[in-house]
Amino acid sequence: MTTFELRTQCPVHQAEAMENALFELGALSVTFADAEDQAILEPGVGQMPLWNQIKVAGLFSSDTPAEPLTLAFKRLFPDAPVHCETLPDQAWERTWLAHFKPLRFGRQTWVVPSGFSPPEPDAVNLMLDPGLAFGTGTHDTTALCLEWIDAHDMRGRRVMDFGCGSGILAIATLLHGADEAWCTDIDPQAIEATCANAEKNGVAERIRIIEADKVTNAPAVDILMANILAEPLIALAPQFATLVQPGGHLILSGILREQADEVRQAYATDFIDIQTRFTEDWALLSARRKPENPS
Ligand SMILES: C[S@@+](CC[C@H](N)C(=O)[O-])C[C@H]1O[C@@H](n2cnc3c(N)ncnc32)[C@H](O)[C@@H]1O
Repeated sequence: MTTFELRTQCPVHQAEAMENALFELGALSVTFADAEDQAILEPGVGQMPLWNQIKVAGLFSSDTPAEPLTLAFKRLFPDAPVHCETLPDQAWERTWLAHFKPLRFGRQTWVVPSGFSPPEPDAVNLMLDPGLAFGTGTHDTTALCLEWIDAHDMRGRRVMDFGCGSGILAIATLLHGADEAWCTDIDPQAIEATCANAEKNGVAERIRIIEADKVTNAPAVDILMANILAEPLIALAPQFATLVQPGGHLILSGILREQADEVRQAYATDFIDIQTRFTEDWALLSARRKPENPS
């Protein structure tokens, strides 16, 4: 289907009015994008924060007359810039695939979206599509965790994925041979996505869902992974010390490079061998829970 796109820009307070106007003028879809490279790291549950300056694009079918549409839009938003462009035919419902393709983490862990065959059928292949919950492997903070999983022996381990999002980390550990993975998240959409993705990967019977406020009822684990953000990770240090078995592994991600020292200090009382791996912007901390004192 041939379509054309009306592109414009507005401050955040105008975004909703502009979206409504474009739909009333016949748009098939309206999308927002950041106009100023402003990072939104992790929205709260149920929140949909927007950028201060927003690029807005309305997609119209080819039978919408472009000139009257532009004039009508200009009457409503005289100060907004307007640019119309005819877009070539393509299968719109599959265009996202151009941006999401199989990705390898470490030696043999692949995340493979629907529509692709695993590039290495004998590797560990995690079948996953982008959804509403965070976690496809395209973000550095997830990638660092997947690389850690790939490099360590998961066989027979009990794992906790604290802040599971799509369930990507829990599912990766199970595909690598972990016995069971306890998953928790404060966002109900994440729990839904984790269950659906676990089903798709044939590991649903080894996933244990636990509510975030009941997580201390879970048995102590061999490996706890949390890709959240530095501030909650610091606050969670005492709780994580009780959730990880003596000698067990703790993997913390979602930490900006410059926050790594502060997080390390928060964990220094109960954990040893604290090591840090960096990407350009992010840090991953791995540590071992102190062994129990010999009696
Ligand atoms: C950055 S995403 C990580 C998702 C996935 N584990 C990954 O590595 O890609 C963080 C997730 O943690 C959840 N989260 C944030 N704070 C939390 C908390 N205090 N307790 C449980 N979940 C939390 C968020 O809802 C979100 O799904």
